[in-house]
Amino acid sequence: MDQVKLSGGAMPLSQETIEKLIQQSQEAKLQAYCTYSNFRVGAALLTKDDSVITGCNVENACYNLGICAERNAMAKAVSEGHRSFKAIAIASDMKNEFITPCGGCRQFMREFGLDWDVYMSKPDGSYLKKTVEELLPFSFGPEALPK
Ligand code: THU
Repeated sequence: MDQVKLSGGAMPLSQETIEKLIQQSQEAKLQAYCTYSNFRVGAALLTKDDSVITGCNVENACYNLGICAERNAMAKAVSEGHRSFKAIAIASDMKNEFITPCGGCRQFMREFGLDWDVYMSKPDGSYLKKTVEELLPFSFGPEALPK
């Protein structure tokens, strides 16, 4: 029998959890070090064991060394022992558009699975939810490499 594939991530989050995660991403945004672009981004990553690890973008005078908020949060999480994620919320100051992760961050998310949720928000708390797989179809990942 064909397996039924649930869309929208493995386990649905409660509305309260989603709202809190977005709020935490907005708080992380306040720490953004973005002297060059002046474009603040915050991320809040929810781990399988319900820890929340936040990140902001951190730019550099050597422009190409800047790191995005999402990647910062994921690197922090891994360095603290977390490798399984339920969701990530992203916040920026754009009032009229949802903040969407760059291609590099999508690939970085994909490293940790395809079936988890990305909440792309606006400052008013509204959001768009997509799975990592929806954001990066036909992707290349760790399974392709020999063990
Ligand atoms: N940025 C992020 O941190 N996350 C995104 O989703 C998009 C872009 C950062 C990178 C850079 O510091 C600034 O926003 C402008 O591109």
